[in-house]
Amino acid sequence: MEIVFATSNQHKMKEVKAILPSSIHLLSLADIGFMEEIEETENTIAGNSILKARTIFEKYKIPVLAEDTGLEVFTLNMEPGVYSARYAGEPSDAENNMDLLLKNMELVTNRSAQFKTVATFIDRDAYYSFTGVVIGAITQNKKGNDGFGYDPIFKPSGFDKVFAELSLTEKSIISHRAIAMNKFANFIKTYQSR
Ligand code: IMP
Repeated sequence: MEIVFATSNQHKMKEVKAILPSSIHLLSLADIGFMEEIEETENTIAGNSILKARTIFEKYKIPVLAEDTGLEVFTLNMEPGVYSARYAGEPSDAENNMDLLLKNMELVTNRSAQFKTVATFIDRDAYYSFTGVVIGAITQNKKGNDGFGYDPIFKPSGFDKVFAELSLTEKSIISHRAIAMNKFANFIKTYQSR
């Protein structure tokens, strides 16, 4: 089955391809000739996930998978949350975002946080939603070289490494995105055999 994954983020594409079964042929936005930026104008992670999927579905009328992710820090009232990409302003810059978050948490002792991914699948005007959450903590400093975004400062619970110190295979077992995409993978198995 061919599904468009509505992202221009190559890291996300790699992670999702590593999780979904080989029966799913994932097309990128470039594969279908969509080169624009989809503006994230909703004020929830779920809202932006639906917005991305709907934008592509309405234009191309092909099955679409989209996702939106946010980092939520409990003692900051779940910020940066839906504003994770542009926390330190636009254009989005991962180093600036992390620096600002570490600065805003200088005096914070409870560093609990979660990554949340909401994936949306649209086919023939029906919407399906899959959520993945991973709990962890914001470290005091950046570490590691792998991954992207806030990976250098997020340590998942039960691990002594941050996401940026894990391999793609390791992150793909425990991450927020993996949890959401595994739910989608289970759903699509039965959906395809209908
Ligand atoms: P978006 O889902 O692309 O809007 O991502 C929101 C923000 O979270 C961006 O700054 C991303 O770099 C960051 N982000 C998304 N997924 C991850 C992840 O798996 N690890 C670290 N940062 C992420």
